Amino acid sequence: MKVSTLLFSSLLLSLPIFAQNSSNENSAKIGDTVSTALIQKLGGELKAQMTKNGLIAALGFCNASAPSLTHEISTMTHYTVKRVSMLERNPQNRANATESSILSRWQEKLTAGQPLPAYEIAADGSMDHYYKPLLINNEACLKCHGTVDPQSELGRAIKAAYPNDRATGYKMGDLRGMIVVDIPVER
Ligand code: HEC
Repeated sequence: MKVSTLLFSSLLLSLPIFAQNSSNENSAKIGDTVSTALIQKLGGELKAQMTKNGLIAALGFCNASAPSLTHEISTMTHYTVKRVSMLERNPQNRANATESSILSRWQEKLTAGQPLPAYEIAADGSMDHYYKPLLINNEACLKCHGTVDPQSELGRAIKAAYPNDRATGYKMGDLRGMIVVDIPVER
């Protein structure tokens, strides 16, 4: 058994393999579990990389492994999960039209000083989509998503890996994007 599987097996034990009904409560529980697994996985690995190997190595880790670890969580939980943003680093993580409209609505709330929901669920045919806001909630995020000097080693490394990067200039408390979990349902 892989280490990552061991780490998450207890967290994921409560998950049904397929959603049994279309109740929001059921989808919320699945979405919470899957999104938490992703946040813990990526956050834990990122923190370890930054502490042990430094910022440039941590950037290399995100570049090389964030997509595959995200895919791994989907495989392990049987629910497709992704991170998306309207100002993205990896073009693969660009929010689609529906996701963008939700992010825009959340952005308006934030700008008006209103709290964001912990999650939203939208029914879409035989699928529930679970959406969870992702905020810049840690100073560490700003190292790679805040003000980055383009001439610095980090700035050059970001440019080399992501020529069309749009994911700098964020501040503490900003809406960075969201986690989306797709949950098949029987209606
Ligand atoms: C060491 C640099 C680094 C740090 C620190 C960092 N990120 Fe990132 N982040 C990246 C890279 C590189 C990507 C692109 C990874 C990929 O291809 O999915 C990324 C992608 C993302 C994405 C996916 C959307 C996109 O723009 O592609 C989100 C959301 C995100 N980061 C949020 C955060 C948050 C929140 C924090 C703080 C907890 C954080 N990041 C800290 C480097 C970093």
